[in-house]
Amino acid sequence: MFSLLYASRSTLQPSEADAAVKALVSAGRSRNEKADVTGCLVFGAGRFAQILEGEQSAVEDIMRSILRDPRHTEVAILQQGEAATRRFADWTLGYAGPSLFVQRTIARPVSEALRGSKRGMADLIHVMTEFHAKQTIASSLPSA
Ligand SMILES: Cc1cc2nc3c(=O)[nH]c(=O)nc-3n(C[C@H](O)[C@H](O)[C@H](O)COP(=O)(O)O)c2cc1C
Repeated sequence: MFSLLYASRSTLQPSEADAAVKALVSAGRSRNEKADVTGCLVFGAGRFAQILEGEQSAVEDIMRSILRDPRHTEVAILQQGEAATRRFADWTLGYAGPSLFVQRTIARPVSEALRGSKRGMADLIHVMTEFHAKQTIASSLPSA
């Protein structure tokens, strides 16, 4: 199992970003599902951060497309390598954004991670797994 974390800067106009990101997430989900790739995307304060996990060749294939995507720029791969388990096994492409909460939560760890701070990177991964855990808890509650 291979896992990759990157961060980038959005080139989308703020007024169109929400709709544009939702569209790319929905297209990305079906491609990720076919490739057995899972992960999580966060968007806020003009930044994206994403974790992709799966077979190395499958992750790298999708990452090649992501790298040439004009909807963002300054794509920085922060971490990649073998991982024992998937963090987002049930998420083909979990998405959090662009609420004020997400914006405030990811802004600092993303900029610190981009400056090469290991602590920033760990915080960013932590925030993403927390989004995942909360979502899992919320979706496991019986509906009213
Ligand atoms: C921030 C960001 C994250 C993306 N994440 C994914 C993803 O997880 N899976 C995916 O298939 N495409 C994702 N895309 C879209 C790809 O860049 C690409 O448009 C799509 O996979 C189609 O590939 P192609 O242009 O090589 O045909 C993402 C794009 C951006 C800007």
